Amino acid sequence: MSEKLTLTNSDRLYKEAWELIPGAVAGIRRPYNFVPGEYPIYLTSAKGGRIIDVDGNEYIDMLCAYGPIIVGHREEEIDNAVIKQIQEKGFCMSLVQEAQNELAQKLIDIIPCCEKAFFMKTGSDATTAAIRVARGYTDRTKILRSGYHGWHDWCVEVKGGIPEKFYEDVFEFKYNDLEGAEKLFKQHGSDLAAVIITPFGHPLGYAVQYPKPGFLEGLKELCEKNGTVLIFDEIRTGFRLSLGGAQELFNVTPDLAVFGKAIANGYPLSVVVGKKEIMNVLEQKVFISSTFFPNSLDQVAALANINFLEKYKVLDVIAKRGKIFGKKIEKILQDCGIPCSFSGAPWMPFITFDKDDQGLYKKRRKAFYTEIIRRKVFLQPYHHGYIAFRHTDEDMDYVANMIAESLEAVKKQI
Ligand SMILES: Cc1ncc(COP(=O)(O)O)c(C=O)c1O
Repeated sequence: MSEKLTLTNSDRLYKEAWELIPGAVAGIRRPYNFVPGEYPIYLTSAKGGRIIDVDGNEYIDMLCAYGPIIVGHREEEIDNAVIKQIQEKGFCMSLVQEAQNELAQKLIDIIPCCEKAFFMKTGSDATTAAIRVARGYTDRTKILRSGYHGWHDWCVEVKGGIPEKFYEDVFEFKYNDLEGAEKLFKQHGSDLAAVIITPFGHPLGYAVQYPKPGFLEGLKELCEKNGTVLIFDEIRTGFRLSLGGAQELFNVTPDLAVFGKAIANGYPLSVVVGKKEIMNVLEQKVFISSTFFPNSLDQVAALANINFLEKYKVLDVIAKRGKIFGKKIEKILQDCGIPCSFSGAPWMPFITFDKDDQGLYKKRRKAFYTEIIRRKVFLQPYHHGYIAFRHTDEDMDYVANMIAESLEAVKKQI
């Protein structure tokens, strides 16, 4: 029998927080997104591929802060570049610093669609900016979207506090459903400013999907025919699937793309990149500015991170490790006799439980993620995981063995 973790300090801090912060913790970090009572709520430190909670439990971190950690936590080469900037230059000034140009040039060199770049801080900043740029460029209003794009008015799932007029021109289609997109183009074609899509399918709670042959190409063709801007939301895929993003890997170049998360190994930076002609609406017609956008720390971190990714061929290492891991997990799942699936290899590994009418999958999911966290592997029940460069082969073997053990335990329970 696995033993429940000691989480006394997490519980105490959580109770305290209810008096201080609405909902105690924000968004996807809330306990109901894990297994309440089984997962820690507060972490205290992280290093490499590991995290430690406030009760001293140490885990292999297979969630990587929901994506930003690509090399590992507290990577010296990257952190030292940031510390140097703080100590020798400073980073929050009334004008921009040189790092901006250097980073823009780097992105132009490595990302296929990037002819110009515009820096911000969060993924939601960048997706919202890309939509405004596309609307400014086309003088159209309507948007097709597929995937999660952040918390802003036009795209957030929970509509509380948002007047309908802010999202009434935004229409959703499912990943890999080219026919669905075609239908929407038939209805709205000449009014469509943009199609925004995650180029790799990763809807919350569902298996991760590769693009079907012709899907991304078909979308591109529809956009070209209708004068619509194609935007790839590469917030998760960027600096993970390939240095030039999913667009490089799948060989489909959009008009615009947005990057964030792994671009700076944990430092808050995002960017809209794309064709000059479209990006240039930001010169005059479209206004986007924010006090912290030009701060250079995150840009310096991104430069050091990208350097590191190139120098150590980090993405090749992760892909190779993820492939080996994927093969192992597929075999474990085949042998375990539980109706569940594995997807997202090599970059976004995810175990999901096949739906059934009695809802047994929910019980299996809860039991599995309880067993796995008790074995000190930090994975999320509704969200795929990630692999970092600093995860060792031993870590990956340990995770695979714990997945096998946890599934065995589930079989005995349900
Ligand atoms: C594909 C995608 N787009 C946009 C966002 C929003 O980014 P942020 O949470 O940094 O605002 C996310 C965040 O998870 C994402 O996964």
